[in-house]
Amino acid sequence: MQEEDLDEVAACEARATAFAWSRQHFADSLAAGYACWLMRRDGELVGQAVVMNVLDEAHLLIISVALEWRRRGFARQLLAHLRSHAREVGVAQLFLEVRASNEAAIALYRTCGFEEVGRRKSYYPAPGGLREDALVLRCVP
Ligand SMILES: CC(C)(COP(=O)(O)OP(=O)(O)OC[C@H]1O[C@@H](n2cnc3c(N)ncnc32)[C@H](O)[C@@H]1OP(=O)(O)O)[C@@H](O)C(=O)NCCC(=O)NCCS
Repeated sequence: MQEEDLDEVAACEARATAFAWSRQHFADSLAAGYACWLMRRDGELVGQAVVMNVLDEAHLLIISVALEWRRRGFARQLLAHLRSHAREVGVAQLFLEVRASNEAAIALYRTCGFEEVGRRKSYYPAPGGLREDALVLRCVP
């Protein structure tokens, strides 16, 4: 992901989820030096992911696939790429947080070998002024 991709990424993300990252979130991630990835198919943006590395741990901050490209294995491919890159740079553990209600993402992560290692109570804002728990998942890349 480069600066010039940000408008396209933010538009894709806004359609992908009700709790989308803004353009600024992605810009800040690039500026911070996080690993920011795009997946394209015939030039069209399919998905995006951002990973923060801290020593030998990596944190998957976001992954999303455009609505029109879902259920074709692209998130699984993107995760495989992130894991391969994590191995190359010496990451020992890859963590992520996911909304407890996000069944699609939880199913994806489980099929990709992530295991639940914790739960953060009321971690995320939810519609109607409510809060929602986060599951903390981990895998060895
Ligand atoms: C979660 C998300 C990234 C999955 O992307 P995707 O490209 O459709 O996922 P894949 O096609 O690679 O699916 C891989 C596996 O994940 C599981 N899965 C994916 N979407 C699912 C769904 N809607 N319901 C149940 N299982 C699902 C399945 O096990 C699937 O394998 P299968 O298709 O062989 O059954 C996508 O739904 C998305 O962008 N959601 C909004 C953003 C989001 O919630 N990101 C995660 C934040 S932690």
